[in-house]
Amino acid sequence: MHFLSIIAFLASLHALSTLAGDNSPFFLPLPEAFANTNVVLLKDQLAVIPGEWEYQSAVSSLHNIRASDPSVVSALSKVADASFVAWDERFLAVIGPEAKIETIQTFESPEDKHVHEAPVYVAESNELVYSDTSQVGWLWAVEMDTHETRKIQTDPPLNNVNGATYHDGLLYACTNGGSVRGIFSINVTTGWTKPILNNYRGRHFNSPNDLIFDSNNNIYFTDPTYGWAQQWPGVQQPELPNAIYHFDTRSKAVTALSNSPVHYPNGLALSLDERTLYVADSNSSFGSPTSVRNVWAFDVEHSSTILRNPRLVYQAESGWPDGLRVSRNGLLFIAVAGGADVVDPQTGLLLGKIATPGDIILNLEPANGERDGVWLLTGNKAVYKVTLAEGGNNRRSLGEWKGNVGAIAEQHLGRLLCLVQNLA
Ligand SMILES: *[C@@H]1O[C@H](CO)[C@@H](O)[C@H](O)[C@H]1NC(C)=O
Ligand SMILES: *[C@@H]1O[C@H](CO)[C@@H](O)[C@H](O)[C@H]1NC(C)=O
Repeated sequence: MHFLSIIAFLASLHALSTLAGDNSPFFLPLPEAFANTNVVLLKDQLAVIPGEWEYQSAVSSLHNIRASDPSVVSALSKVADASFVAWDERFLAVIGPEAKIETIQTFESPEDKHVHEAPVYVAESNELVYSDTSQVGWLWAVEMDTHETRKIQTDPPLNNVNGATYHDGLLYACTNGGSVRGIFSINVTTGWTKPILNNYRGRHFNSPNDLIFDSNNNIYFTDPTYGWAQQWPGVQQPELPNAIYHFDTRSKAVTALSNSPVHYPNGLALSLDERTLYVADSNSSFGSPTSVRNVWAFDVEHSSTILRNPRLVYQAESGWPDGLRVSRNGLLFIAVAGGADVVDPQTGLLLGKIATPGDIILNLEPANGERDGVWLLTGNKAVYKVTLAEGGNNRRSLGEWKGNVGAIAEQHLGRLLCLVQNLA
């Protein structure tokens, strides 16, 4: 053997021995670049778990199963300590070798079951604005780098804010409580609020849950009966079926979208080309482990109210899919119990999990601009700042408009594939 090849051989042996850790039947060794990340790469998608095991609860994570086989017990403890669990090797390119998770805000008592929702990144102030859904009249804002927090008083006060989004300098939020529920705009400097939509031809909405704008400035939003189920003050018995709506912000027409198999529409997101609408169907919060916990995809057309070609793209196993976001390369980031699942919606494949053990993530939001690649997760117990290689779909901030989105997606996909090849 040539001297240099011996060195290379020894170096590769060293890399393997330090990075593979043990000769576990459950994990694959990581590329050397990932030596300083807290990630595990599962082997064979954990297709076979030796021995017996017991399931814990609908909101528990993989590492919470109680296994009989000692090798499984030790593997699960490794999973429990990981910040990122790669189910597919491609997840490594998504997170990148600098991936990390920080906690930027925690909430008073450890038993705090408050639901934190409506995360919106405001680049101008470098803040994440979000809600505690149990509260009336104010929102949280946390500065992303200093972690300083403040409260934004909403005026007139908004009740039990759930989903929200940023659009043209204002926050647009859904309210779940109070006698009149709907979509409101909020100026985050003054806290001033204004109703945008508060009824469906004289019927109260159930509890608008989440909303998004498309690039024609129109709104898609979901309206399940969670407000009634959670008994928020003022909420009347439902006056409408659960539905997914389209709101034309110019004509003010509200239309219920047809052909949806979704029982409890929750978070929603549009694909990069805006031709696919993703909607979470989440019932697990109300008890039974056999109740739905799905993410559906539909073909949408701007001129039509028909959701065509409904297809299941994901079934979560931990908790229920809640907030959804699409990444720069068109991947779906899904808030679930124990973290966020990253899924390729074309194939339905779970690429990996961003792990927040012991906490339930209700929603998530990518930062943008200089902080592209930072994702903010709002949980029951804390707010997390996750730094990844893959950023969000910040189409507007990047000035990427509809026409060239396809080309851009292809270009990014090419880069992603290159990165995977280099890493492998
Ligand atoms: C928010 O309020 C501030 C202070 O009155 C005002 O300067 C700003 O233009 C408002 N923002 C929007 C988008 O209306
Ligand atoms: C929703 O949850 C309730 C309560 O657990 C259950 O009775 C119902 O069957 C569930 N529905 C679906 C569609 O999952």
